[in-house]
Order: sequence, then structure tokens, then C-alpha cells
Amino acid sequence: MEIFIDSADLDEIRDVADMGVIDGVTTNPSLIAKVGRPLKDVIVDICKIVDGPISAEVLATDYEGIVREGRELAQLHPNVVVKVPLIADGLKAVKTFTSEGIKTNVTLCFSVTQGLLAAKAGATYISPFIGRVDDVSGDGMDLIEQLVTCYGNYGYRTKVLAASIRHPRHVVECLMLGAHVGTLPRDVILRLVQHPLTDLGLARFLEDAKKIPKS
Ligand code: E4P
Repeated sequence: MEIFIDSADLDEIRDVADMGVIDGVTTNPSLIAKVGRPLKDVIVDICKIVDGPISAEVLATDYEGIVREGRELAQLHPNVVVKVPLIADGLKAVKTFTSEGIKTNVTLCFSVTQGLLAAKAGATYISPFIGRVDDVSGDGMDLIEQLVTCYGNYGYRTKVLAASIRHPRHVVECLMLGAHVGTLPRDVILRLVQHPLTDLGLARFLEDAKKIPKS
């Protein structure tokens, strides 16, 4: 499974990218707003840090606007993936982007039938928001399982990009279900690194190392 970082914060992205575990980056308007800089400037800077797919979301919600903004974003860097909301005009725009060779990430997916339509329109990635499904008493992992099964059954090449991941258990379950990508906030990535037995073992090794005679 590929790991993307879900962030627009350059320091966070750089920190995790330096560990060599990041395959790409996803952003959304809320994450860009938090860093308080123009969207395009942030995307260009992220492309300098990570050499992989970088999702940049359009703000328009009508077909013409989505296509105009998406083309502009795609011109920023060859790694830019245009993130498009899962609405009817969004799907029309995905069809256009696909015919132009522009990669897309269809976002705000909450059902397998939405995912089916995104795949038929030619989406490169589909982003099911599993944490937000859990937030309203649903089961986000069911959605991942349904999408992976649906795409596998019919041979769609759209990749399932598990989004809105909130904790390491989500990551484990995505791995078991065969999600192609998980996009994780930095704090979840850092929690994946940690294990109490690693800390205990290291402390014991360092203690024992004091008994090693100096050469
Ligand atoms: C994905 O592309 C979104 O940016 C993100 O995962 C949403 O996560 P949230 O539900 O924690 O805001």
C-alpha cells in the first residue's frame, strides 16, 4: 500500500518525507486554509519536497470552473493530481481530464455506487472518507471493502485511496482489505513508528552497552 501524507504544512511534509516512507501528498481546501498561503504557491512548494502524486483540489463546483481550475493546477507540475468533488459536474470534468491525460482524485466519496461512477468516468484515484463515515455511526471499512471488491470484480483501474484516516487501526484494516493507498495525517504516521517493546528493547540494549569493555 502506498502512503500519502494528508497535509499542506511544508514542515510536516518535509519531516515525514525525510523518513523515506512517503509516496505522495493529498491536500484539501481546509488544510490549505490552515497554512494561510495561496493554494498554488503551496502546491508548487510541496512538489519540490515530494516526488510523487500531489493532489490539489479545485474550488469550483460547476463543470466549466472545475475544468478551468483543474487545467491550471495540472500545469503547475507534472506530479499534480487534480482533486475533484464527487458531484455530477465533477464527473463530467473527470471525463474531460481523463481524455486530456490529466490525473484525477475524486474526493468526498461515501458510497460504493459513487465509486463506481468515478471509475467509469476514468478517475485515477477515489477517496472514500472512512473517518467521516465512522463519525456518523457507519463503518468506513465496509466502504473500503466494497470499493476494492467492486474494482477487482470488474477490472477498473481506479485506485482506492483511503482518506480521513484517524488512527493506526484504520491503517491495519486498509492493509488487510487491499486499499491501494492510504493518506495519513502526520500524527498517525508517527504513531505507526512507535511500539513500547521497541522503546523497552532499545533502553535495555543501551543499558547493556555500558558493560561492553572499551577497546
Ligand atoms: C483526503 O483527501 C482528505 O484531505 C482528508 O483525508 C479528510 O480527512 P478528515 O475527515 O480528517 O478531514
